Amino acid sequence: MDTQQVYNQNAQKWLRLEPSSLSDFTARPLVFDACGELAGRSVLDIGCGEGYCARELKCRGAGDYLGVDLSEQMIEAAKLQEAKEPLGIEYRACDVVEFQTERQFDVCIAVFLFNYLRVEDMNKVFRRVYDALATGGEFIFSVPHPFFPFVRVGENPPFYFSAAGKNYFTDVNQQFEGEIWKRSGEPLHVQCVHKTFTDYFDGLRLAGFYTMPEIRELTVTEELVATDEAFFGPLLNEPLHVLFKVKK
Ligand SMILES: C[S@@+](CC[C@H](N)C(=O)[O-])C[C@H]1O[C@@H](n2cnc3c(N)ncnc32)[C@H](O)[C@@H]1O
Repeated sequence: MDTQQVYNQNAQKWLRLEPSSLSDFTARPLVFDACGELAGRSVLDIGCGEGYCARELKCRGAGDYLGVDLSEQMIEAAKLQEAKEPLGIEYRACDVVEFQTERQFDVCIAVFLFNYLRVEDMNKVFRRVYDALATGGEFIFSVPHPFFPFVRVGENPPFYFSAAGKNYFTDVNQQFEGEIWKRSGEPLHVQCVHKTFTDYFDGLRLAGFYTMPEIRELTVTEELVATDEAFFGPLLNEPLHVLFKVKK
């Protein structure tokens, strides 16, 4: 299914004011922590969706904040929430592959955006991010763990991507369909345009990021299982997501 269509149709399901989907527990808090002390630093949030991360980072002290997303409905939902409780976040509907800006940002985040882009498009976006970052600026992004679709077989809650018959190396750029569950029991449709670890590292280097990225492989921890065994238990110690942080 077309990404824009998926998110236009599901914007209301995604809208949330508190953690609800699996990755709101297993990934986003680690992205927020990786942003560190924001203390007025400007943020570009690409693939910002309905603004969940934007609202959190603004509350943690971000300065000028621009969120961009392909889906007009997700941006509409973000703007509605901003109108209800203004935090000073600017939102714009556009395709990040075409997005260009004269502005310079201190931080760029992309939370589960690149699983919607082919390698060539991701590389274009990496270059645009490099140009949009001030010297010393940080690029922080999370993606599905490249191994996850291959180690987690079966279409079961609370998260899966269907990769039956697919190969880690030869099926790069193939789109795997999946679902991620909210703790309420509602599934959200997600997609993963497959990439290997090499693709991420090559793309960053080609874009001009020459310092070693920090990476963290994210999973369900014992601490999370202790809070809700039925929900988190099936994914204990599975390789779910990867967080990258690199400096310009
Ligand atoms: C899984 S959602 C994550 C949203 C948000 N980052 C969050 O963490 O809540 C992925 C988002 O990427 C957006 N997206 C996918 N392809 C895009 C593109 N080419 N340009 C801009 N946004 C895109 C989708 O519209 C969707 O809102």
